[in-house]
Formats: sequence, C-alpha cells, structure tokens
Amino acid sequence: MTMLPLTTLLVLALSGDNPQASPARQVTAAEAAQPAEVAAIIPQPVSVTARRGRFPLTRRTTIWTDAAGAAVGRQLARYLEPATGMTLRVQTGGTLPAGAVILRRDPTLRKKLGPEGYLLDIRPARVLARAPGAAGLFYAVQTLRQLLPPEIFREAPVAGVEWSWPAVTIEDWPRFPWRGAHLDVGRHFMPKEFVKKYIDLLALHKLNIFHWHLTEDQGWRLQIKQYPNLTDVGAWRKETIVGHQPRGNSPWQFDKTPHGGFYTQDDAREIVAYGKARFVTVMPEIEMPGHAVAAIAAYPEIGVTGEPIDVAGYWGIFSDILNAEPSTLRFMQNVLGEVLEIFPSRYVHIGGDEAEKSKWKASPRIQARIRELGLADEHELQSWFIRQMDAFLVSKGRRLVGWDEILEGGLAENAVVMSWRGTKGGIEAARSGHDVIMAPESHTYLNYYEAKAWAGEPLAHPGHLPLEKVYSFEPIPSELEPEFAKHVLGAQAQLWTEYVPTPKDAEYKVFPRLTALAEVVWTPAEKKNYEDYLQRLAVHLRRLEALDVNFRPLAPDAR
Ligand code: ACM
Repeated sequence: MTMLPLTTLLVLALSGDNPQASPARQVTAAEAAQPAEVAAIIPQPVSVTARRGRFPLTRRTTIWTDAAGAAVGRQLARYLEPATGMTLRVQTGGTLPAGAVILRRDPTLRKKLGPEGYLLDIRPARVLARAPGAAGLFYAVQTLRQLLPPEIFREAPVAGVEWSWPAVTIEDWPRFPWRGAHLDVGRHFMPKEFVKKYIDLLALHKLNIFHWHLTEDQGWRLQIKQYPNLTDVGAWRKETIVGHQPRGNSPWQFDKTPHGGFYTQDDAREIVAYGKARFVTVMPEIEMPGHAVAAIAAYPEIGVTGEPIDVAGYWGIFSDILNAEPSTLRFMQNVLGEVLEIFPSRYVHIGGDEAEKSKWKASPRIQARIRELGLADEHELQSWFIRQMDAFLVSKGRRLVGWDEILEGGLAENAVVMSWRGTKGGIEAARSGHDVIMAPESHTYLNYYEAKAWAGEPLAHPGHLPLEKVYSFEPIPSELEPEFAKHVLGAQAQLWTEYVPTPKDAEYKVFPRLTALAEVVWTPAEKKNYEDYLQRLAVHLRRLEALDVNFRPLAPDAR
C-alpha cells in the first residue's frame, strides 16, 4: 500500500482527541521532523495532545513526589542517570521547587482512569504526572522515558544529545488488567540476569504479568527444599536433540552436551522483588499431571510405573505422567506450599496441558483409583487431580490457572482458563462464568517463525506468526456475548524454548512481536493502526538497540 509521508503520520500521531484540552495546534513539517521521537510511544496511549514548547531536563531539575510516589520517583532518577550523567534530586513532600517533575497520587482519578491509568501534562515550566496509584505513576514514567531521545536507554553518558521533553498532554490507561508474557525456562534454562532483563522489557511496554514456566519434561528449574532431587536430578539432562525432530526413520541426532540449571528459592525471591518494583507480578507455573518427566526422573514413585526414567532430551508429549495416589497429591501440594511462600501472586499456574493418558489407561492401579473415586474415565481423573489443587490453592487464598485442557472432564470451581488452542476454550469458560486469559497459539506463540521464509532464520517451531498477525489479535472474540466479555482478563505472549537455546535467541523471537502484543492489551481497540504502529516501531527499535535487545530487524514481510 502507499505510505503516507512520515511527517503527516507523526502529526496524526501527535493529535489526540481530548475534549477538555485546548486545541492541538498544527505541527509544521520542520518541527515534526525535529521531535520525530516524541510521538513514538509503544503501546499507543489513549490520547496524546501536542503542545507548544519543551521542558529542559537539567542538573537542577528536581523530581518531586508525594509519599505514594517516592519509590517511582527514585526509579525515574535511576532510569535517567546513566545516559544523561545527571543525578537528579528526588524530594518527597515539602515545598514544590520550580521546574520540577512532579509525581502525585490522586485517588479521585480512579473512577476515570482505573487502577493503573495516569495523566501526564508536560509544560515548559514543569512536568506533572498524576495517577490514582503508584502503578499509574510508574506507567507515566515509562512514557516519560519514551518521550526522550532513544539514547536515554544507553548505560553511559551520550555526547551531543539535548535532553528535553516535548510539551504534551497525555491521558492513558490500559484496556485489560492482564497484560502478560510467558517464558519457558524448562526446555532451556535462562540465567537469572536474563530473566531480570525480560522483566525490564515487560515494564517498558507496560506489561504487568510475567508467567514463569518453571517445570518441564526436560528440566525442573525451581529449588524445592523438601524434595532436593527435583533439582539435583530433575534440573539436568544428559543431552539435547539437534534440530527439528526427524520424521519417519531418519536418525535422531543429539548434541552429547549436558544441559541444565535451576533457580534457588533466594534467586526466585529476587526475581519476584525485581518484578514488584516494576509493577510486574511473577506468576509461577508448576506443570501437572503431564509435562512432568523431570519430576518423575527425580522421584520415580510419583509416576505411574515407578520405573526409573531419564530427564527428557527431546521434545514432544510424553506418556510418563504423575499417578493419582494420595501421596503424590500430597507431594505436589507440598511443592505448591513452598511455591506459595516464594510467590505472592494471587494466580498460580498448574499447567494441565497435554496430559497424555495412555499410561493411565494401561495401569490397573489407576483404573482402580478411577473406580474408587467414582469417576467415569481418565479425563475425569485429570479434572479430579486439578480440583484437589484448586481446593488447596483456594484454601491458601490463591487462584488456580490452567491451560484449556482443564476444561475436559469438568472445570474446577475456581479455575481461570488460559486458552491456547485457539479461543474456543476461553469462550466456553467465560460463558460458564470463569475468568479467562487469551493465549491462542495462532496469534501469541512467539516461538513460531516470524519470517515467512525460514531459510537463514534461527531454528524455530515450524509455523509462521508474522508481526502483523500478532498486532491484529483481538482478545475479545466476536462470538462471545457482551455480558461475558468481562471474564476476559486480557492476553499474553508465549515463548516456548525448545528451539531457543540462548537469551539472545529469545530476544530475537520475542522482539519486535512483543511490542505488538503490548498494543493489543493496552491500547483501545479503535486506536490501533498497524501502519501508524510501524512508524512508531521504527523509532522504538532504536530504543531496543540501545538496550542491547537482539530484535529481528523489520523486514518487508512486516506487512
Ligand atoms: C501448550 O502450548 N502446550 C500450552
């Protein structure tokens, strides 16, 4: 399609439709070219109105906060210090100094903005951010970062940059309360420092849930003090399959290299605290009853046969599955008990997907359990298993989240459904009054190739998920009756790491597509515009470059 000239698009991006604000003036081509970055905010705010003039950021600029905004004010100072070389004074309370950046909580704004919204008003004489709560002030700060030149994201002073904010009025709040990104650290262990970088990148895009997929067939990644073998044995595999799994009789090739790693409980607490300081809740996932090969390798008595098995070194759905003995239920509840001590998240994910039932079918003991419990079949046994976890989590004041297979055989009373096999499961769950998170593989699995042509691309899951398709995702399915829409809490991106061996590879697959997902969950549906997003993304990629994010460069196949 024909592209509008860049300046026209930036003027469009600068003009908001805020009826209370004074009219936006026309921005000339020359002016628009100069502050090109000013409007390139991702995710696009609810409304942006350009004003006249700029606020200069100098050594004398004070960040003034009330008590509620003090931590966010200090965070702003920390964000600005490396690239500007200026250590700004943060003043909490007291007389407002002239020329300040003001962060102020105003609970009366909650009605208009919701719990996470903010108002930002930048004038030549001062910057004023107001929000009903600290989260909104934090998001105002993220917008402030993006309103400076992209060099602000560098970690050492950058010569020749004039630091100033364009005068602008912004009103902004998220469309959904659940704005997530998932990371599988089971298939490939990701170092703690990368997990922190991932959380930083979530925060930059105003995402607020980090779904930490901690256990898999190929590795158990969280220290559990009652069961040390989970990490002594379960965190390590002897070798990993090379390339895609061959079909037919082709030989399988392994790398003959051990792989593993795990997070101590102190590491995990550090990640939780790191997220909290950035308004990102860390939701742990402990997989059961399937995707549990590593756990069974560590403790064969929790499996169906009791036979020793190895931690898996290749990908797929395995027939090894947890048994249904009371001792195994207790084992998993004890694990969850330790998990709850580490993770304050109200939501706790217990997996529930791809639980292959052939070993349950073949086991006389499991069949006897099914009869003993008065259940009809293996699907009901899976539901029974999940219900025990649901009751346990509810008794501790938490809520269970599971992949949409937990619908089969009957949904646990309090469960939240994460809909990955399309949106069908989510629709069914929402109609029955359950909360839902949309995570369909068709639009949110960033482990699929972004490129149409796979040659020359790093290995990925066979499948194609272009940037525009992620951007086009609508979390509220058109077939869902409006009265149930409130059950859709939001959506999230997934990164399964079978073919993601390193953090750099993870960055390549996640970016830029996560920036599109951010706009899906934050920006009002009627404000979304892919061409406009691409213009802003061109600027945004310079920020990601400064942050040393190994994003996939924009290619002609972006549209
Ligand atoms: C999944 O992709 N198995 C949730």
